[in-house]
Amino acid sequence: MKAKIIIDKNFKIGEVQRNIYGSFIEHLGRAVYEGIYQPGLSVSDEEGLRKDTLELVKELNVPIVRYPGGNFVSGYNWEDGVGPKEKRPRKVDLAWGVVETNQFGLDEFASWAKKADTEVMMAVNLGTRGIAEALNVLEYCNLKGGSYYSDMRIANGHKDPYGVKVWCLGNEMDGPWQIGHKTATEYGRLASETGRVMKVMDPSIKLVACGSSSSGMPTFASWEAEVLDNCYNEIDYLSLHQYYNNMANDSADFLARNMEMDDFISSVVSICDYVKAKKRSKKKINLSFDEWNVWYHSNEQDKKLEKWVSVPHQLEDVYNFEDALLVGSLLITLLKHADRVHMACLAQLVNVIAPIMTSDTGAWRQTIFYPYKDASLYGNGTVLNTIVDTEKYDSKNFCDVSYVDSIVVYNEEKEEVTIFAVNKNMTEDIELTCDLRQFEGYKVKEHIVLHNEDLKAENTEANKNNVAPVTSDVSKLDGGILNSVLKHKSWNVIRLSK
Ligand code: AHR
Repeated sequence: MKAKIIIDKNFKIGEVQRNIYGSFIEHLGRAVYEGIYQPGLSVSDEEGLRKDTLELVKELNVPIVRYPGGNFVSGYNWEDGVGPKEKRPRKVDLAWGVVETNQFGLDEFASWAKKADTEVMMAVNLGTRGIAEALNVLEYCNLKGGSYYSDMRIANGHKDPYGVKVWCLGNEMDGPWQIGHKTATEYGRLASETGRVMKVMDPSIKLVACGSSSSGMPTFASWEAEVLDNCYNEIDYLSLHQYYNNMANDSADFLARNMEMDDFISSVVSICDYVKAKKRSKKKINLSFDEWNVWYHSNEQDKKLEKWVSVPHQLEDVYNFEDALLVGSLLITLLKHADRVHMACLAQLVNVIAPIMTSDTGAWRQTIFYPYKDASLYGNGTVLNTIVDTEKYDSKNFCDVSYVDSIVVYNEEKEEVTIFAVNKNMTEDIELTCDLRQFEGYKVKEHIVLHNEDLKAENTEANKNNVAPVTSDVSKLDGGILNSVLKHKSWNVIRLSK
C-alpha cells in the first residue's frame, strides 16, 4: 500500500496554541493523593510532592493543568483545602462516593504547578455554589493583598498572587449526574453573571463555559446554542468533552473514532459561528477540548468499589498499544483544528485515566504517554493543510476511514518540519512519499516509531517498557522528496530540520 502526503508551506490551518497539550488533575482516586502528593515517601520532597511524577510531567512539557475537577468541583468548598492542615475538614465527596481529606488544596496545587513548570487552569463550583464563591476564590488567587481573601492567602504563607489566567465556569453542567445540574438557560445565565463580575475583578482572565459532556448527549447542539446565547459576551472558550472506548473489541472501528472527534469539533465551531452571526458579533469563540482520552478499561472494577473510603484505586485504566494509536490520531485531529481549538486537556494526568502511573516504589509511562509527549514536544509552529492520498476502509460505524492519519507542523523559527502519522493498517506497511522541495536544505533528523505486534500490549509496573518508541532509519530525503515507510499499526514522528 502507498500513501502520499501533499502540503504547501503557504497553505496554513493556524498556529498551534501550546495549551492544546494541556492535561487535568482532579481530586479523584489516586490522582492527587499518591499521584502527585504523597508525604513520607522517599521520592517525595519537603512539601510531600512526588519528584518522580514531577519528572515525568516535565518530560511531557505540559503547558497547563485543569484543577480541581471534573465532577468533584461541583460539590467542592475550596476553603476546606487551605490553611493549617490539621484544621482541614474531612468531607463527603458525592461526585465520586468517597471521603476527601482536604490535606491537599489549591495552595499545594499552585506550588506543584510551579515545580512542574505548568500553568493552572482553575474550575469554579457552579453546582452547589455560585457567583460569590467564584469571586472569593478568584480574589484569593489573583489579588495582591489588602482584601479579605487575598490577605487570607498571604496569612497562609503565600505572599505573591498566583495570577491564574484561565478559569472554567463549572463542569459538565449539562449532565444529569452533575451535582447542581442545570438547564441550558439556567446555566447560561449563571455563567454570564459569574463571568461578568469575575472579569470586573480581574479583566486579564479568560473564561471557559461548559459545552456538552459528549456529542452523544441528548441536549448536544441545542445546549451549546442556548448557553452561548446567554453568555457569548462574557466568555472566551466553549468546552468539549469526549471519551472513547473499545468495549466492542473492534479495533478497526475503534481506531476510526477520531473521525467522531473531528465531526464534534466541526459542529461546535459551526454553532459558535451561528451565534456570532445571530448576535452580529465581531468576537470569535474558540474551543477548549478540556477532557479527552480513552476511558473504559476500569469500568467494571470501579463498580465494585467500596463507598466513603479515601483514595481508592478509581478509573485506573491500564492502556494498551491500540489506545496509544487512537490517542495519536486524536492529537492529529486536534491539530487539524488548530485554528479554533485553542486549548485541550488530556484527561487525566496521573493514575486516573492517565499517561503516568505510580506505586509506592515508582512511576512509569503508560502507552499513551508517547504520542502525547511527541505532540507536545514537536507539534509546535504552524499547522499546514495536510492532504493524505491513500486507501480507505469501512468499519462498523464509519465509512471512508483513511488508513493513514497525518498532519504536518512547520516551525519556521526553529527551521523544523514535523510529520505526524498513524498507520491503521493491521498487516501492511505503507510506503510514504512527500514532496518537501519547498524546504530547501532540510534533512531527516529523526523518525520515531511506536509499534507493537500486539494491539493489547500494555506497560505495567512489572514490565514498564513493554511498549516504547524506537528510532528508525527508513526515512530518506532525496532531491527534496521524502521516502519513508509507515510500519503496519504504528505511530510515527518524522522530524526534519536544517
Ligand atoms: O475525568 C473524569 C470525569 O469525566 C470528570 O470528573 C468529568 O468531568 C467527566 O465526566
